[in-house]
Amino acid sequence: MTDRITKAVIPAAGLGTRFLPATKAMPKEMLPVVDKPAIQYVVEEAVAAGLDDVLMIIGRNKNALANHFDRVTELELSLASKGDEKKLERVKESSDLADVHFVRQGDPKGLGHAVLRARKHVGNQSFAVLLGDDLIDARDPLLTRMLDEHDKRGATIVALLEVDPASIQMYGAAAVEATDDPDVVRVTGLVEKPAPELAPSNLAVIGRYVLKPAVFDILERTPPGKGGEIQLTDALMEMAGDVEGTGGVYGVVFRGRRYDTGDKLDYIKAVIQLASDREDLGPDLRPWLAEYVESFDRP
Ligand code: UTP
Repeated sequence: MTDRITKAVIPAAGLGTRFLPATKAMPKEMLPVVDKPAIQYVVEEAVAAGLDDVLMIIGRNKNALANHFDRVTELELSLASKGDEKKLERVKESSDLADVHFVRQGDPKGLGHAVLRARKHVGNQSFAVLLGDDLIDARDPLLTRMLDEHDKRGATIVALLEVDPASIQMYGAAAVEATDDPDVVRVTGLVEKPAPELAPSNLAVIGRYVLKPAVFDILERTPPGKGGEIQLTDALMEMAGDVEGTGGVYGVVFRGRRYDTGDKLDYIKAVIQLASDREDLGPDLRPWLAEYVESFDRP
């Protein structure tokens, strides 16, 4: 049994080129999913799993992210003076959520490089990494399960999602061996964005990790890989070999709802699905949506 993890690192310094021009002057993590920026769901997920010390790795256009997790006194005073308690509560939610810290990445040299920027803050403890543009539906908890597996196995844990074999080239793909738990596999190898015919499986690594601090030393000496970036996948591949007694890598197979909000189509699906399921919006949205879909078949 290891000490329970308390720190979450959220890399949010990518360029977000898939969502241009919306992300020209604003980080993709600030795109609203219904009425909250995507990043707020991610911080809420960390807090729900007991991680209330959050370090965000930010890049250019950082101000919107930092401001969102700060107090806006004049807005709070204005809502309070109008007696609008409901809106006041919603405005304060993000600033009261967690202890949020920020560090700049400098040049966006890849996810591995972003994670390395957390070294000083994290120190010699295991920690969780949640990608700021990867949204896991709060009704399908994943991180708590990963933290439990980390405690049980003393290993690095990744989250795996079974994807259509043709789309594995958008992810890191895992080579795995079964364990006695149908939801947990041992990761024996990883390949970043493989061509479908070269992929070891259709189990894709998605944006949640529980990492042991040994990852920092490995990242320090990891050379730029695919796309000239320092890849977290390359460091994980080394850890999967358990060469220096780092405990190996295990994967929790996630079977719930997950959206890549940095991808246009997935973003649209996230907004529609989450809004349809909401009590305040669903009753009006669902019949409209059904009628709209029906209109596709009309001449
Ligand atoms: P992506 O692979 O989605 O890359 O990063 P990207 O550059 O942000 O987006 P596109 O592909 O150009 O649209 C996955 C996660 O890693 C973070 C991103 O912010 C995102 O949360 N990241 C990536 C960094 O923090 N720094 C980097 O150098 C690269």
